[in-house]
Amino acid sequence: MRVARSLISLLLLSVAVLTAGCLATGNHEESTSDFRQALHQYVHSPSDVFSYRLIETTTTSQATIYTLNITSLTWLPESEVGSKHIWYHFVTVAIPNDLNKVNSQGFFFITNGRTDQPAPGADATTSSPVGIDAFSTSLAVNTKSIAATLYLIPNQPMSYNSDPEHLIREEDAIIGFGWRRFMNNTADNLLYVTQLPMVKASKLSLDAVQHFVQQKIDNYRLETFMVGGNSKRGWTTLLLGGVDNRVNSIVPVVIPTFGTKRFIKRSYDNMCAWPWAYYDYVTSGVTDQLFTPEFEDLTDIVDPLHYDRLDTIQKYQILAMGDEFFSPDLNSLSYRRVKGDKYVRYVPNAGHFLQDTDFLPVLQSYYYARHNQIEIPKYQFSHEFIPEGLLINVKITNGKRPTRVQLWSATNLNGPRDFRTTTIGVNAWTATELSEIEAFEWQVLVRNPVSGYTAAMVELVFENYVSVEGVQMAPLKFTTNSYITPNTLPCDISPDNLPTRQMV
Ligand SMILES: *[C@@H]1O[C@H](CO)[C@@H](O)[C@H](O)[C@H]1NC(C)=O
Ligand SMILES: *[C@@H]1O[C@H](CO)[C@@H](O)[C@H](O)[C@H]1NC(C)=O
Repeated sequence: MRVARSLISLLLLSVAVLTAGCLATGNHEESTSDFRQALHQYVHSPSDVFSYRLIETTTTSQATIYTLNITSLTWLPESEVGSKHIWYHFVTVAIPNDLNKVNSQGFFFITNGRTDQPAPGADATTSSPVGIDAFSTSLAVNTKSIAATLYLIPNQPMSYNSDPEHLIREEDAIIGFGWRRFMNNTADNLLYVTQLPMVKASKLSLDAVQHFVQQKIDNYRLETFMVGGNSKRGWTTLLLGGVDNRVNSIVPVVIPTFGTKRFIKRSYDNMCAWPWAYYDYVTSGVTDQLFTPEFEDLTDIVDPLHYDRLDTIQKYQILAMGDEFFSPDLNSLSYRRVKGDKYVRYVPNAGHFLQDTDFLPVLQSYYYARHNQIEIPKYQFSHEFIPEGLLINVKITNGKRPTRVQLWSATNLNGPRDFRTTTIGVNAWTATELSEIEAFEWQVLVRNPVSGYTAAMVELVFENYVSVEGVQMAPLKFTTNSYITPNTLPCDISPDNLPTRQMV
């Protein structure tokens, strides 16, 4: 494999020399690689340790909630990761008393937690989003469908024996070290790409939920799932949707990672430094590798754009305007390459944790509509930079009338292109109502600010769209992508102009 890799690099190099002119504008992402199939192969290879046990049953007046303990897979050797060699997970499965057996779709939410805490593995301090277990149960009851929540993706805290610092690692610190280690030796270190076990454990947990439900309920089988998750679990959601045929709908939350290399480059170019939230990727040396062939190998595995199956399923991205990791313009960079049924919702006045927002109730309404095949609004949007600023256009194409259309914007007069709640505050976004320029069509000019930058998006709100037994649920909310004007970048990193490790 190692030899193959260098052969490929050599071949690429000679191609590059021969066609230097073409390659200057060519798309490096199209290069062939051994790694495009790695996730699919890994996820669908059998697991020797897979098993699950029912460990708890709780009943409420409207549902029964079963907690399973699933042993999913073996990861890196015990000599490297100790007890984290074998992963396990808690899953709560909420089955409403009046389950609608005609509908075979369920809801599956992937979250985190810690192995040193009691089941179900997540409490207010470690669970993202907070309150997901109560939400799952209420969603199950309201939609008469089964809702499962998967905890402990990834298994943490943990440490790597090969880590010279012997740090106790969680979350990004696990992934940052792992990605760097993979890029040091891509042939031998595939399993260090932590997304592999995260996705496979999620796949195996779907197997367990499916099996458990089939045992529990006569004449009923869960066939398909809407899968959601926040942040790294949102990334897991995207990749699971890419490789698992049971997933027919995804809700990746606060994770605009389509076109991975491009969004990471833009994160730096926006501020001429990395955002602090990238700390684990910067200090582990991952970001130093951005322009190497090994980074292409990594993105061959983790970039959701490489998974064509995603074109065929429903996608609803929920993103935060003030995200500490992801600036507002990132999702727009590769969005035209995301195909098929796709929806975006940017949440204004919210950071990465979406605290104090309505994202869960709005998601419940969205699930209800999708689950019951209620036609939801269809819309198109586009944007254009002109000398005065930014033009945003939105059009509804299936005659569904929003109750409100508004422009949300925020300005950072001091520059750089920094709209994190930690920089501009949590209430920096203001809304202006827009009126139609033509039937079902809106256009707005966002003027460039006198100094600094303005970020903006247009939101469509559909009140009273979904009701359950006469009770109105939260509105549906969709938005355009968000953009930053003026369209000038303070930095432009490249192979000849590498990023520093500076963070702001
Ligand atoms: C769940 O399973 C793992 C091993 O597979 C075990 O270590 C752990 O104690 C179990 N937890 C509970 C609460 O059953
Ligand atoms: C990667 O290789 C470099 C250079 O040999 C080394 O300093 C670094 O510790 C390695 N990183 C990992 C995570 O293996």
